[in-house]
Amino acid sequence: MRFGIALGSNLGDRLQNILAARSLLAERCRIVAAAPVYRSAPVDCAVGDPEFYNTVLEIETELDPEQLLRFTQSIEAQLGRTAKVRANAPREIDLDLLYSGNLITATEDLHLPHPRLSERRFVLQPLADIRPSLCLPAQQKTIAQQLADLQSSEPPLVMVTGSANPENLDRLAASKAAGRQIVAITAYDYPVARLMDEAGVDLILVGDSLGMVVLGHEDTTGVTLDMMVHHTKACRRGIKNAVLLSDLPIGTYDSPSEALASARALVAAGADAVKLEGALKQIEKIESIIAAGIRVIGHIGMLPQRVREEGGYKKKGKTEADLRHLTRGAKALEEAGVDAIIIESAVPAAAKRVTAEVQIPVIGIGAGKSCDGQIRVVHDVLGSFPWFVPRFAKTHANLAAETREAAKSYIDAVRNKRDA
Ligand code: KIV
Repeated sequence: MRFGIALGSNLGDRLQNILAARSLLAERCRIVAAAPVYRSAPVDCAVGDPEFYNTVLEIETELDPEQLLRFTQSIEAQLGRTAKVRANAPREIDLDLLYSGNLITATEDLHLPHPRLSERRFVLQPLADIRPSLCLPAQQKTIAQQLADLQSSEPPLVMVTGSANPENLDRLAASKAAGRQIVAITAYDYPVARLMDEAGVDLILVGDSLGMVVLGHEDTTGVTLDMMVHHTKACRRGIKNAVLLSDLPIGTYDSPSEALASARALVAAGADAVKLEGALKQIEKIESIIAAGIRVIGHIGMLPQRVREEGGYKKKGKTEADLRHLTRGAKALEEAGVDAIIIESAVPAAAKRVTAEVQIPVIGIGAGKSCDGQIRVVHDVLGSFPWFVPRFAKTHANLAAETREAAKSYIDAVRNKRDA
């Protein structure tokens, strides 16, 4: 059955609570559509109560309405919601079932469609984002019409983050089928993630290359899960449309249970999917993550987290044996259920073979032009990390030079007491 569910939080880390609830829902439901998260003024609450974060999800589940209600109540309890101290007291999370197809029901605990759905901007607005033409049973107007006609003293909602739409991940597969190249890029902070999203890239990776291009480390091996969570949250705030993929750093997925716990932390921070390096040795870990409803993208070829073991960044797929190893790995990843594979630093012929041998998209970096798409480190595209640019990367701007010029102009203005 399909259901609409409203999520609200006005206590603690509100965005985190919403994302955590979404991740817990995904354990027993498939999220079909997810609206942006909005900030809204509290309605029918005590003076001084904190503002809410609200969103709406449409989900599909085997659970019947009563079972789903109990499941959502267990999520509320798990996220810290306790018995009411007073009506509409601030709460970590509120999950309200809104509708389920044409079902009309009114039991002691559950009314569907939700009786106050049409009176609340904080429900109508996010619902209109994902289901504008939905017409609920026994109603004449679509959700979009209801929103347009709403007479309410609620101030306008403020969008906190665009969401997390699982359909975007499905679009990667559709791109491969349609022969449309997938455009992916890294980002590590809000402004760059937002600019890349607004420009229309398909996928934004919060990569553990963060260690090198943002933190100035020699390689990616010093990156921690806390760092990835921190930067994933920042990027989440800037992304409305692109898939937000986040890297599991080295040492955070050494067993299936550790891999799942780390993946959950990234999803709770706002990632739509997680990536981990390696294929054949990682299958059990990937399976445990996917079994919990979290989407995964694989990474084969040169694995930067193993750079120390390998003694440098080496091209892969040069020999027939190496090529067979790559294709075996890619097929195992596909069978495990990953949504796509990133292939890094492989000879173009090998990347082409891998791309042809799996149905899922293969996205290349330093792997020639025959993949289903390309991913680049954003600093290489913008020319903002001049101290090292990989040979395969084409810079599309020279922000390093512009930054230096801007800095000199600023220094000059301050020293000469001009407008700074
Ligand atoms: O961390 C990263 O930036 C990556 C890309 C190189 C694919 O994994």
